[in-house]
Amino acid sequence: MSFRVRVSSPAVDATSKALEEGLKDVKNIIMVLSGKGGVGKSIVASSLAVSLRMMGRSVAILDADFHGPSIPWILGVEGRYVGATLEGKLVPVEVGGIGVVSVELMLNVRTTPIIWRGPLKARAITDLLSQTLWGSRDYLIVDLPPGTGDEPLTIAQQLKVRPLAAVLVLTPGHMVKHIVMKAKEFLNLLEVPLLGVVANMSYFRCPKCGAVTNIFGTLDVGPDEVIAEIPVDQELAVAVERSQLIDYITNNNGETASILRSLGPRVEERLKQVARTS
Ligand SMILES: Nc1ncnc2c1ncn2[C@@H]1O[C@H](COP(=O)(O)OP(=O)(O)OP(=O)(O)O)[C@@H](O)[C@H]1O
Ligand SMILES: [Mg+2]
Repeated sequence: MSFRVRVSSPAVDATSKALEEGLKDVKNIIMVLSGKGGVGKSIVASSLAVSLRMMGRSVAILDADFHGPSIPWILGVEGRYVGATLEGKLVPVEVGGIGVVSVELMLNVRTTPIIWRGPLKARAITDLLSQTLWGSRDYLIVDLPPGTGDEPLTIAQQLKVRPLAAVLVLTPGHMVKHIVMKAKEFLNLLEVPLLGVVANMSYFRCPKCGAVTNIFGTLDVGPDEVIAEIPVDQELAVAVERSQLIDYITNNNGETASILRSLGPRVEERLKQVARTS
């Protein structure tokens, strides 16, 4: 069974054309998703963007979590605004060489909640993808809300031709296994290649004695699937809290920052493998 139903109508064709035009200079799109909330998607999406940028790649990030946007905070651009041209195109905010687009960066009052139903969110995603002046980018990273709802569905269905792949973020433990299976099955049905999983909060290394504790239990996925295992780390939590993730990944000498720096090379390698086998 495939969910990539091809419907043809003037409106659908116009949308496809607008997406193709808007994304014509974007080489790869990577969706960062998870089965459940609060597992570290936004940190992983941001870290992946920073790491790819450190490799010299041109990168942009789309915050597609309309109800709980956190990319502007994490990347320290909360006080800035997405630009607009006279023709009504959006211009990403740039930070550390990364283009950022988030609905949060279009609101005058940042505490205003986005109260949209599914069709409106789907439309918003299409508009953000097609009406932004992304420029030439090797990677567009899309940070998604938890689960397999409207936002990932819209992206997976709309971007039929463009190279699109996914990274699944999870935390260890048996409880999350069936939720992870749902996310995997979702990608499978929509024919989006899964590059692998990032196991966040995978372990805790005591800063005093170095002892390792698997706070949330063990990881229940095949070792080949694992792109990286990120420890629970207070320094990372503080860097995020202070909107200093870019500085942390770039300059911190510890184990966690080094793992976050490795995300770009590992994801790029897996993309190459997918391209070779497809
Ligand atoms: N490895 C880690 N070490 C310490 N704190 C972490 C780690 N990963 C995530 N956190 C903390 O957990 C919280 C959730 O992270 P994040 O916002 O990236 O999750 P999310 O999956 O995007 O959440 P949501 O589902 O709400 O979008 C953040 O406050 C972050 O500081
Ligand atoms: Mg998030």
